[in-house]
Amino acid sequence: MTTVVDRWDIHPEHRWLRGERTERPVQYDESQKLWNVYGYDECREILSDHRTFSSGTARLLPVSVEDSLIEGDLSQMDQPEHRKFRKLLTPAFSPKLIEAMGPRITAVTNELLDAVEGKPVIELVADLAYPLPVIVIAELLGIPASDRDMFKGWADNVIESFSGFSSLDSEQGAEDIREGTERMRPLLDYLAGHLAERRKRPRGDLMSHLATAEIDGERLTDNEAVNLANIMLITGHITTSMVLGNTMLCLDAYPEQGERVRANRSLVPGAIEDALRLLPPSTVLTRATETEAEVAGQLIPKDQLVFLWLGAANRDPREFKDPGQYDPGRDPNPHFGFGWGIHFCIGAGLARLEGRIAMNALLDHFPVLRTDPGSPPGFFETPDMIGVKTLPLHTT
Ligand code: HEM
Repeated sequence: MTTVVDRWDIHPEHRWLRGERTERPVQYDESQKLWNVYGYDECREILSDHRTFSSGTARLLPVSVEDSLIEGDLSQMDQPEHRKFRKLLTPAFSPKLIEAMGPRITAVTNELLDAVEGKPVIELVADLAYPLPVIVIAELLGIPASDRDMFKGWADNVIESFSGFSSLDSEQGAEDIREGTERMRPLLDYLAGHLAERRKRPRGDLMSHLATAEIDGERLTDNEAVNLANIMLITGHITTSMVLGNTMLCLDAYPEQGERVRANRSLVPGAIEDALRLLPPSTVLTRATETEAEVAGQLIPKDQLVFLWLGAANRDPREFKDPGQYDPGRDPNPHFGFGWGIHFCIGAGLARLEGRIAMNALLDHFPVLRTDPGSPPGFFETPDMIGVKTLPLHTT
């Protein structure tokens, strides 16, 4: 059976996406000077032990990343700092507040889909999967959603420059990191402008919350607030956009599952979850060892970079029955698509709600949605992400 991965030749170098298991679940890569982890239990062990496996990986990268770019970046923080910053954001992502966003998400989705009603071909990313999450996160932050083409340009630019994770130990890897951080600047300057405005005149949005909130009696610095807003803006839309595209690719590549979901909409959440398992948009998480550690019998010294390959762990037959099979009815489905442990994605509830509303609306609007090998999807090339940049779909 052709899998979704083979069908579109997704990351040909990632053999584990094709069901191949590595000899050992934890392996040292001599050429890159880093540790790769492919096993489910091993990933869970590492993600659960945040004292030994720090999220502060920037210190081990081949070029120093300016502190001003890391301050406030939740995903690079360890305890106790991480707990304090995360606590600041948690109320904005409470299940009650997220659920209350449902009607607005539905309205935006319908508006976007009404605009392409009757077209024989839609381009899923431009028509829905990109604008929907970006409008939602921009409204949550309180920045103009009408600037979204600007964010897209900057964000795509940043992602593409980070192709260097495959060549970290080389001059090219260092250059990629330098360039990526440079490309981030226009977006950071843009957010700094909005922050300055909210410092003067706070409103009811998340940016105002960042402008006025205090940790240990002190307001966030400009860098902290801007970097926090930045990770929410970037991760909040790119990954969600990818998950919509990836779910559609799965429903298309396994037509019997596509029919099953169309006939029974209670399977929509499961369809999204199993797409997150097979095609996790953030396909690699990185950690740095604070001390020597032993995982699966391998001794990993202190100060080593550890790469956790979620697409491999999510196919580990020790955890998932028929791991290569796309199954919207899979239950339980403890995949790592949103991470695990203290850094578990804060926006998972929002992404799931957007996914559920968008997928149902797509199925309602279009009785047929199918890819065309003659105009295949375009993918982000960076090896640390799996996601479509463009996805043309026929509607007849
Ligand atoms: C389907 C869409 C999404 C996917 C696949 C995804 C994936 C992830 C993953 C794998 C992590 C863990 C990173 C780590 O452990 O190093 C993470 C963390 C995070 N995500 Fe998401 N995410 C999605 C949507 C969102 C949304 C909508 C938001 C915000 C509005 C968001 C904000 C964050 C933040 C702030 C963190 C850092 C949390 C922490 O370090 O405590 N994500 N995400």
